[in-house]
Amino acid sequence: MKFRTRAIHVGNEPDPQTGAVIPPIHPSSTFVQPGAGDWGKFDYSRSGNPTRTAVQATLASLEGGCGALAFSSGMAATHCATMLLRSGDHLIAGMDIYGGSYRLFHKICTTAGIEISLVDLQDPEAISRTVRPETKMLWLEGIGNPRLTVPDLPRLVALAHQHELLVAVDNTFATPALMRPLEFGADIVMHSGTKYLAGHSDCLAGVLAVNSPELLDKLYCIQNATGAVLSPFESFLLARGLKTLDLRVGEQSRTAQRVAEFLETHPQVRSVLYPGLASHPDHVRAQQLLQGGFGAMITFEADGDFETTKNIVKSTKLFHLAVSLGAVESLIEQPASMSHASYDAAARKTAGISDSLIRLSIGLEDVDDLIDDLDSALRHCC
Ligand SMILES: Cc1ncc(COP(=O)(O)O)c(C=O)c1O
Repeated sequence: MKFRTRAIHVGNEPDPQTGAVIPPIHPSSTFVQPGAGDWGKFDYSRSGNPTRTAVQATLASLEGGCGALAFSSGMAATHCATMLLRSGDHLIAGMDIYGGSYRLFHKICTTAGIEISLVDLQDPEAISRTVRPETKMLWLEGIGNPRLTVPDLPRLVALAHQHELLVAVDNTFATPALMRPLEFGADIVMHSGTKYLAGHSDCLAGVLAVNSPELLDKLYCIQNATGAVLSPFESFLLARGLKTLDLRVGEQSRTAQRVAEFLETHPQVRSVLYPGLASHPDHVRAQQLLQGGFGAMITFEADGDFETTKNIVKSTKLFHLAVSLGAVESLIEQPASMSHASYDAAARKTAGISDSLIRLSIGLEDVDDLIDDLDSALRHCC
């Protein structure tokens, strides 16, 4: 079955008891056992729940993995992956990553004795220079946040595997509709399911997908022991969102391309970063690694300082001023004061997150309305 068909059918088999085309949501926290000490398929919902199991089957199929685990948030999923590491281990992460991942690595992992190095993955040799015997994991984003870098994943995987590192890819921005990192040899795919996968700004979720049964067992063991599982109701919302993922991401990417081209010619815009533009430093690589579109995130620099930028993001009418992304509504934000505020100022500078950077998440509205909205905010504020 093709991607779009699997999104609708895998994990969504009609209910055998009633014939319901949509499988029921199972809110039960506990399950009757055949006898004391005898275990059925499900016993307690932290360890396993039919609604969660079903959406995990869909997710594994879409990422091309042997299994997936659904978490209560993206950060819970990332945290679970980092719990594979032990005190004394070293993690290398790309520089263009979500502020919350930066915070988890620097504020939580370090207190557990894990050392962190951020490297610029545009220079893959940086891995060879930074790696040491204690290095155990490489963490990166398939499309980086907020500068929308597209790292050379196949090359980075090969380099990291030479040093026996686990490669974990946050695939939130690209989604499996555009890129499936496991196919490039990555070991772990992570998602903030809150974003495109669920797709409607109404559900917080996280995902890990892998294609090694041993790794799946290890991650399951951590998840079951620590407990940050996705609830049955959220599992249903995630499953519903996945059915239209391919359609949404395709359409949102087409709209994003048009908006990026418009911004590139706008007099009040200094620069635009969108992997679908020929001017993007990783455009050629993005053409090779992404299929069916370049994603629906755009980053641009307005012609103004911190305050002007704050005014622009407050002035749009259709673009809501909010963090998050990947839903049907378009969103606008200022990374320096919002999504990447947890970077310290020096790290923001090194990562190229200037005060006048604006990040857009393109939704499903009509492209002309979105362009008009941005145009009037830019003309009004700059
Ligand atoms: C790229 C990326 N990864 C991870 C996360 C964290 O996910 P969540 O907010 O679902 O915990 C986010 C949230 O914005 C994100 O944008």
